[in-house]
Amino acid sequence: MGLLELRELSKEYKRGGRTFNAVNRANLSVEPGDFISVIGRSGSGKTTLLNMGAGLLNPTGGTVFFEGKDIYTLRDKDMSFLRNQKIGYVPQGQSLLSNFTVFDNVCIPWFLFRRGGDAEGRAFILLERVGISHLAASYPKELSGGEMRRAAIARALINEPRLLIADEPTSDLDAQTTVEIMNLFKAVAREGTAVLIVTHELDTLAYGNKTYLMDTGNLAPHAA
Ligand SMILES: Nc1ncnc2c1ncn2[C@@H]1O[C@H](COP(=O)(O)OP(=O)(O)OP(=O)(O)O)[C@@H](O)[C@H]1O
Ligand SMILES: [Mg+2]
Repeated sequence: MGLLELRELSKEYKRGGRTFNAVNRANLSVEPGDFISVIGRSGSGKTTLLNMGAGLLNPTGGTVFFEGKDIYTLRDKDMSFLRNQKIGYVPQGQSLLSNFTVFDNVCIPWFLFRRGGDAEGRAFILLERVGISHLAASYPKELSGGEMRRAAIARALINEPRLLIADEPTSDLDAQTTVEIMNLFKAVAREGTAVLIVTHELDTLAYGNKTYLMDTGNLAPHAA
């Protein structure tokens, strides 16, 4: 079994008296070292899929296995611990805590569950890797959208997760920065952390090793 296995995963929503499957019996297997991209039109169910895979949204059908465990059977505390230690998540929108500096935002996951080691040193290296170490002492409101996104990527990597999930991580970055972030993800995957991203930019598909297409809730392998 893979690191992350989605089996017949579904999410049913109700809107205006009508029910529909935002995700419809999706199957996906993510192995260590994989770099998987999911593409698809706006509203096709990509974020819903990632949120269920990250342990953030209860499915209405199917199963999410992480390291062979059905994660939605875990107790809250165990789920929080698993997410904190093993899954780095970069949400689609702005997600930094506004009252903390960039540096502290990056360090927070490290201190949520007590860990030994040099959080500060690691945070600084990650900020360098995403190209914003000069903004360490700034607050989120002083950053551009792309800089905030890069801080969120550093934060997602601080605990050396086994899986990095990122929802349109380059949507507000320029071409040069996009290349840098994609190369970073590629290096992260090579170092053994699996990477699962949603992207609109077809240029970025070349960095990954597998591509899937989401079409009105239906997920299928996509020939590059
Ligand atoms: N809480 C909710 N209740 C009802 N419908 C929802 C809810 N959340 C999302 N949806 C609907 O589910 C569908 C999938 O949404 P989702 O956010 O997964 O799309 P997406 O592929 O990520 O789109 P985008 O590319 O615009 O981010 C959309 O039709 C959306 O309107
Ligand atoms: Mg989305």
